[in-house]
Amino acid sequence: MTVSGQRQLLRGRVLNFHADPVNEADTEAYDYFADGALIVADGKIEAIGDYDALKQPGLTEVDHRPHLLMAGFIDTHIHFPQVQVVASWGDQLLDWLNNYTFPEEVRFADQGHADAMARAFFDLLTSHGTTTAMSFCSVHAGSADAYFTEAARRNMCMIGGKVMMDRNAPDGLRDTPRSGYDDSKALIDRWHGRGRAHYAITPRFSITSTPEQMEMAGALATEHPDCFVQTHLSENKDEIAFTKSLYPQARDYLDVYERYGLVGPKTFLGHAIHLEDREIASLAERGAHPVFCPTSNLFLGSGLFDDGGLREQGITNAIATDIGAGTSYSMLQTLNEGYKVLQLQGQKLHPLRAFHWITRGNAVAMGMQDRIGTLHAGTDADIVVLNTSATDAMALRSQRAETLSEELFILQIMGDDRSVEQVYVAGRAQKGVDLPPARALRSA
Ligand code: GUN
Ligand code: FE
Repeated sequence: MTVSGQRQLLRGRVLNFHADPVNEADTEAYDYFADGALIVADGKIEAIGDYDALKQPGLTEVDHRPHLLMAGFIDTHIHFPQVQVVASWGDQLLDWLNNYTFPEEVRFADQGHADAMARAFFDLLTSHGTTTAMSFCSVHAGSADAYFTEAARRNMCMIGGKVMMDRNAPDGLRDTPRSGYDDSKALIDRWHGRGRAHYAITPRFSITSTPEQMEMAGALATEHPDCFVQTHLSENKDEIAFTKSLYPQARDYLDVYERYGLVGPKTFLGHAIHLEDREIASLAERGAHPVFCPTSNLFLGSGLFDDGGLREQGITNAIATDIGAGTSYSMLQTLNEGYKVLQLQGQKLHPLRAFHWITRGNAVAMGMQDRIGTLHAGTDADIVVLNTSATDAMALRSQRAETLSEELFILQIMGDDRSVEQVYVAGRAQKGVDLPPARALRSA
């Protein structure tokens, strides 16, 4: 039915990372083929190399020259029910949640609405070059069904979970410790490991879960050690103070999650801005992953993420959009704002490290680098095709770029969805191609 069943060769400039580049001179960390190619078959990358070495008679060729092929982008923290919250004026975190976000998420009780928003959400991800995301759904189990159904329809490697939240939220947006557990468990049974889907146990954050619910979330994490855990940590000072009042026994914010067995190498903690020394040491020891969400942190005025400081302690940070507090679906725009957040702290984000981060780096944090985040033979063929001269301003600037790093930096600062020429998900082109109907994939 599609190209994914046949072998094809994609030609273009090809960039593939093996490791996190320590600096610009670290050419060991990546391969760059100026006239390169990928052979794609059965949704996987069969070979990567120079075009002359890989070309074969009888192979269908797609010529993407002069564009740049790299692994599809990975967004490790995003809220699918917040597509209509983006650009909500004036508030910082707690007021923003109460005034805009919670009322919006209530609407996801309506399955038709959740299904429609899931379609829009996945269209936006792919048009921005994102082929994998780890997303919060709403409290309603049906929102997670909508999310995973749409991911399956597109054969995308997606991680997600329904949020567990049983207090400090309006009517229609609370579960209970029991129903949060039961619904999450049923979703894990239904979706986790089905096709390319992975479940993330998702206590929203300390403020919206009672200790009883945290205990149930911890039980789920113990019963399903192969699931991810996602939540929020130390994003905003009022949030931290409120958390400490709700959990007076906890040594600090992270300790709330630690007490319930929720902090380990599969745990992703959005924001992690205002951390105490003990929390940093514990994150390092437990191998958990703070998630840098620069557009969100600037938009909500939350603060500056200390990437360099956390890395020095051996922590593997992830990076993400955090739509709808984040302001762009683009991982390129995320890097742009991330660069500036680090500049304000005297830290640097080199383009090679930046592009590694949004591909293989996030995959490594998820422990999935053998499947996604690179173009190595045998991995899933999730590929983005990038145009470094997508706009007049970029084209003009690119005339003066002499090195790969300079060109990547133009993409990092000026790029967005206009730079995404094509996206392949499991070998299938997404732009200008029809998808199978959703109904065929629902339930089972
Ligand atoms: N903390 C708890 N929920 C949220 C959310 O939806 N967005 C952000 N940015 N922070 C949160
Ligand atoms: Fe978030």
